[in-house]
Amino acid sequence: MANQTDTSKKLFIEAQKYLVGGVASSLHKAEHEEYPIYASHGKGSRLWDVDGNEYIDYMGSFGPSLLGFSPDELNRAVIAQIEKGTHFALPTESVNKLSRRLVEVIPCAEVVGYQSSGTEANLVNYRLARSFTGKSKIIKFEGHYHGWADELSVSVKPMSLKSMGPRNKPWKCLESAGQLAGSADEIIVLPWNDIDILEKTIKRYKHEIAAVITEPVMYNAEPIKPLPGYLAAMRQLTKDNDILLIFDEVITGFRVALGGASQLYGVIPDLVTFAKAFAGGYPIAGVAGRREILECGVHPAGTFNANPLCVAAAIATMDIISRPGTYENLERITGRIKQGVNELAARYGVKLWCDNQVSIWQMSFGIDSPMTDFRDNFKVDKKTYLNFYKRCLDRGVRLHSGRGRFYISTAHTDKDVDKTLEVFEEVFKEMFGK
Ligand SMILES: Cc1ncc(COP(=O)(O)O)c(C=O)c1O
Repeated sequence: MANQTDTSKKLFIEAQKYLVGGVASSLHKAEHEEYPIYASHGKGSRLWDVDGNEYIDYMGSFGPSLLGFSPDELNRAVIAQIEKGTHFALPTESVNKLSRRLVEVIPCAEVVGYQSSGTEANLVNYRLARSFTGKSKIIKFEGHYHGWADELSVSVKPMSLKSMGPRNKPWKCLESAGQLAGSADEIIVLPWNDIDILEKTIKRYKHEIAAVITEPVMYNAEPIKPLPGYLAAMRQLTKDNDILLIFDEVITGFRVALGGASQLYGVIPDLVTFAKAFAGGYPIAGVAGRREILECGVHPAGTFNANPLCVAAAIATMDIISRPGTYENLERITGRIKQGVNELAARYGVKLWCDNQVSIWQMSFGIDSPMTDFRDNFKVDKKTYLNFYKRCLDRGVRLHSGRGRFYISTAHTDKDVDKTLEVFEEVFKEMFGK
């Protein structure tokens, strides 16, 4: 049954001669893999590797491929722009159009600004918060990922529960060699989904805290949803204490609703970071919020900001995902997967938690109720998951290579779900059958 991936292996060996670590991003190869699969091409929900193996894809290119691979309508918009020119470093009329659309759909947006990656956009939001409030500290939460830059890479992926320190006063863990020792000096790390700890910390340090940054749904781990009322309470607390609230919607933006998690949960932050899905696979990101904040003296530069190719892709994506029924259909498809997985788990007596949220679904082995705290991640049975993942990959279903969070696109169909559940059933039987 195993797929042949010899060409991928050969290419990885060659890559290591010229390319650091053999991959262009540390995320292109999972730690447990001997070598990554090399992509050849993709169409809709399907991806082909260089050995000709076909996969139903649930990685979604880490989130951006909300329309699936190589969507015709998006391609036409981008090709039309290529013929006019790909980069001018001048304003284009299309930027006005895109900005108007974003202001219409992002609940906190009076104005928007652009960068090329989520990392950059979060750095801009840190600056805006400090400039607007005149304060310097930022509260971020354990396990939340906001990008790879020094001040953002704090307490994202602790090695062990022990390395995190006491829950009511977590230690700050730096993530990378070469990071400035003082990277986290102005960062306060707290456990998420705990309003009491947030309240106590804000009471104590409110005169120093510029902003609280949060992923509104914690997707950079085994996913965790906010407890009922948590985001609203966070909103009230920050407002009452002259602290800005930043929603990092790099994952949730355009994936859980057109207006992101702010729309879904009805909680309006001061600033939003958006990236990934809204340009259907092209590298563009940005910030949104009230005019008085975005216009408080911060002038982010960037050669490729609002590059016309990316803007054309974003406008086409926004057109497509704005059509009636888009989000209902995404939720229906992930709902079918959730139902199918839960039926299999019950039939084979497997302890797992499977859930969905519009275009995102999750499956974690070893737990049978939703997690509420990032520290619960250490209870998840990763070994069983990796075993499951490899068997699915061999059968043409590509899940996330490291964690139980999966994306679908508007191109995923009921037939894809049928095939996926067939594969899951085979794998359940093989792994858990008597
Ligand atoms: C929530 C969140 N914020 C920020 C980032 C960083 O975005 P980028 O990889 O575009 O720099 C990511 C990337 O995965 C993310 O998931």
